[in-house]
Amino acid sequence: MNQPVMAGVAALNVPAYVKQQKLVSWVAEIAALTKPSSIYWCDGSQEEYDRLCALMVAGGTMKTLNPAKRPNSYLACSDPSDVARVEDRTFICSATREEAGPTNNWTDPQEMRATMSGLFDGCMQGRTLYVVPFSMGPLGSPIAHIGVELSDSPYVAVNMRIMTRMGRAVYDVLGSDGQFVPCVHSVGAPLAAGQKDVAWPCNPTKYIVHYPETREIWSFGSGYGGNALLGKKCFALRIASNMGREEGWLAEHMLILGVESPAGKKHYVAAAFPSACGKTNFAMLVPPKSFSGWKVTTIGDDIAWIKPGADGRLYAINPEAGYFGVAPGTNTQTNPNCMASMQSDTIFTNVALTDDGDVWWEGMTAAAPDHLIDWQGKDWTPAIAKETGRKAAHPNSRFTVAALQNPVIDPAWDDPAGVPLSAFIFGGRRSTTVPLVTEARNWVEGVYMAATMGSETTAAATGQMGIVRRDPFAMLPFIGYNMSDYFQHWLQIGKKIAASPAELPKIFCVNWFRTDENGKFVWPGFSDNMRVLKWMIDRIENNAGGVENLFGTTPRYADLMWEGSDFSQQQFDTITSIDKAAWSEEVKLHTELFEKLQHHLPAELMSAKAQLEKRLAA
Ligand code: GTP
Ligand code: SPV
Ligand code: MN
Repeated sequence: MNQPVMAGVAALNVPAYVKQQKLVSWVAEIAALTKPSSIYWCDGSQEEYDRLCALMVAGGTMKTLNPAKRPNSYLACSDPSDVARVEDRTFICSATREEAGPTNNWTDPQEMRATMSGLFDGCMQGRTLYVVPFSMGPLGSPIAHIGVELSDSPYVAVNMRIMTRMGRAVYDVLGSDGQFVPCVHSVGAPLAAGQKDVAWPCNPTKYIVHYPETREIWSFGSGYGGNALLGKKCFALRIASNMGREEGWLAEHMLILGVESPAGKKHYVAAAFPSACGKTNFAMLVPPKSFSGWKVTTIGDDIAWIKPGADGRLYAINPEAGYFGVAPGTNTQTNPNCMASMQSDTIFTNVALTDDGDVWWEGMTAAAPDHLIDWQGKDWTPAIAKETGRKAAHPNSRFTVAALQNPVIDPAWDDPAGVPLSAFIFGGRRSTTVPLVTEARNWVEGVYMAATMGSETTAAATGQMGIVRRDPFAMLPFIGYNMSDYFQHWLQIGKKIAASPAELPKIFCVNWFRTDENGKFVWPGFSDNMRVLKWMIDRIENNAGGVENLFGTTPRYADLMWEGSDFSQQQFDTITSIDKAAWSEEVKLHTELFEKLQHHLPAELMSAKAQLEKRLAA
């Protein structure tokens, strides 16, 4: 393709295989605004990945790990101010405030565009603009959607290669007039001529901006995680939830797993837990030894796109191709499959470096090594930690690894047809009040449970940790439109399935995180979550008992399989008990939420609440 070279503007360098003029014009337009010193079109090859990693090693952004311990792996450490998603700097710029709804930050799109034009003017000076083409979902499949991210961060380019189907083949799918979601990203740290770069450039001013109407994303100032890898939360959730609303499908913050019984019967379930509340762990669960013949396999660990099929059932796909998972707490006991996944070809971010060039994080081994370089590059010893409380790894430190490295990846994980769902599971992190597991008696009750779910905040987002907040469907930070309209969309999907020959998926609510008087988790969690999962499968198969309580059906001790466990009836009672006084307080928080969401709040949910209040008062 011909393009004129203009004085003072980086050469476009369009590869011959790029056939879309609209894309080329857009790249030219963004380059003219951001003024990079060069433009590089990613082809997604291994050679390119290795080269960009080497470039970052030379520049100090990443370290190569010991190839004998952790082949083809790197450690990147971010600026201490850029370690997590920034929810207070995330904007949904719909045409009106009502469309974004009361749970989202909103600014008039005209006004935001003016702000962005100012911030992005010259923001890539002295840097390379990487053109990163990617597909969310299998390349060329009818359910996949394409995005192109323009970023001045090579860290973004290499992470996107792991997290998405990234590279040259995307252009073949795009052809001369295919649709793509334009994603513009800058770390917001232009370099003056001769200025030396820092290891992790970023800007104290951050904006993560979405324009739902035009399906565009603009991100400024951060190089970390969901702020910068724009295919993930920005595209696959915030923009895709808008697409799904228009087209009758769902974009959800859910893992998808397959569970096969010893008899060979397989079910797929999708589970929504808020950030850092156990999705990756549940998706790779290893059943306890006593569950011989049971198998759990992974479709996805963070995001699900779910569409009604011709038979009326809901089919789910994982739009991603990799995992960007939480490191702390991951070990060979809690998540052996995850540990196996990251034995090689992994990018670690903000974990600690061992003296022999490997990685370490809190909870990786029972005893910490004698000496480490912590995520901020400082000497760290157990004694220093004891004295100062300083963590070796940041609590939101993560690994980036290809899904294909997961030893229990499901054979259908990239099937464009998706997998049929038998159940939805919703779960928060609650030290009190919420019982281990509850089954909703019907779709509306399930939607009510999901809509009113609360969870303690975690290190995945900046801000105070451990505060209980309402996190409807684990989507509070990720819904790209009005939350009440989203509830309505879920009710609508239920009605559609009910009108079809298909059975409605069951809806369950779980809580792995109840604590005792010493603040310790009572439920062993991790592989023991299989006991709860088996009960759900048995319920789906009409094969397990339970009792009705205030807001659904819960198992009695005898309804769960306890072989190989010493978890007592008494312990079970502490995490399944329902305290009416605590629930009266809890329902007040539901009321508060519903007051906030009044506009367009579905009447069914109001009456579900009224019924719950009536049962509580009885
Ligand atoms: P995001 O990637 O932020 O969306 O997080 P996630 O939902 O995938 O959470 P993940 O599985 O990474 O778990 C987050 C933290 O919770 C880790 O430290 C885990 O070790 C811990 N965790 C996961 N499952 C359990 C569980 O069943 N019980 C307990 N006590 N902790 C758990
Ligand atoms: C989350 O915060 O839910 C994540 C990590 O999965 S990030 O990609 O940074 O959003
Ligand atoms: Mn997540």
